[in-house]
Amino acid sequence: MSENILYNALKTVSQKRKSVRKFKSSKIPPEAIEKIMEIAKTSPYAGGKKDWEIIVVDNSDTIHKLKDIIKKKVEISYAGTKPEFKQMFEDYARYFYSFETAPLILIPVYKNRSGLAYAFLSDPHDVVKLDSDGIIKSIACVSMMIILAAESLGYNTCFVHGACIASDEIISELNIKKNKKVGAIIPVGYAQEDV
Ligand SMILES: Cc1cc2nc3c(=O)[nH]c(=O)nc-3n(C[C@H](O)[C@H](O)[C@H](O)COP(=O)(O)O)c2cc1C
Repeated sequence: MSENILYNALKTVSQKRKSVRKFKSSKIPPEAIEKIMEIAKTSPYAGGKKDWEIIVVDNSDTIHKLKDIIKKKVEISYAGTKPEFKQMFEDYARYFYSFETAPLILIPVYKNRSGLAYAFLSDPHDVVKLDSDGIIKSIACVSMMIILAAESLGYNTCFVHGACIASDEIISELNIKKNKKVGAIIPVGYAQEDV
């Protein structure tokens, strides 16, 4: 039955997916990137407006630059950690740039929603926040669509949210409009054999 064919295909892709953090350098062809984008476009979105775009970075110098930017921001944050939590933060924050070996990274960026603030005299039930949270959830949806699309093409991926620690610096490095935020960094590539 056709629904079982679709279900089984999705199950295969879902069960094959595991976060990968070390990649081979083999380039991703433009056709594969286009295919991933086709699926990304189908993602559901909150509030009747997409308010996001996907930035494609396949230049290894830029990818390494972004890693350096995040590493620097991690070091600045490290300085503010309590002594007894320094090691814990260091171990955790190593994962904030676990895209560094990938040949391709996809970066969902979004515009902060001002929310329905203009519509309320008072807002005891947090409707304004509910509305503005929608964009973060939309980013999670489109990120998952990207991940499943890339995985279905045989690539490996990871959802690197920690990269957002340097959102403003990344936006500035990539010359994107200042009012945008980084939603995640999704590396795409073939896993190194030893991971
Ligand atoms: C919201 C979210 C944020 C994540 N952030 C990071 C991250 O910054 N760096 C990283 O290497 N992995 C990150 N991950 C991947 C998780 O570590 C991973 O999905 C989890 O350990 C389960 O492993 P699996 O993906 O291999 O099943 C994130 C996953 C989610 C859903």
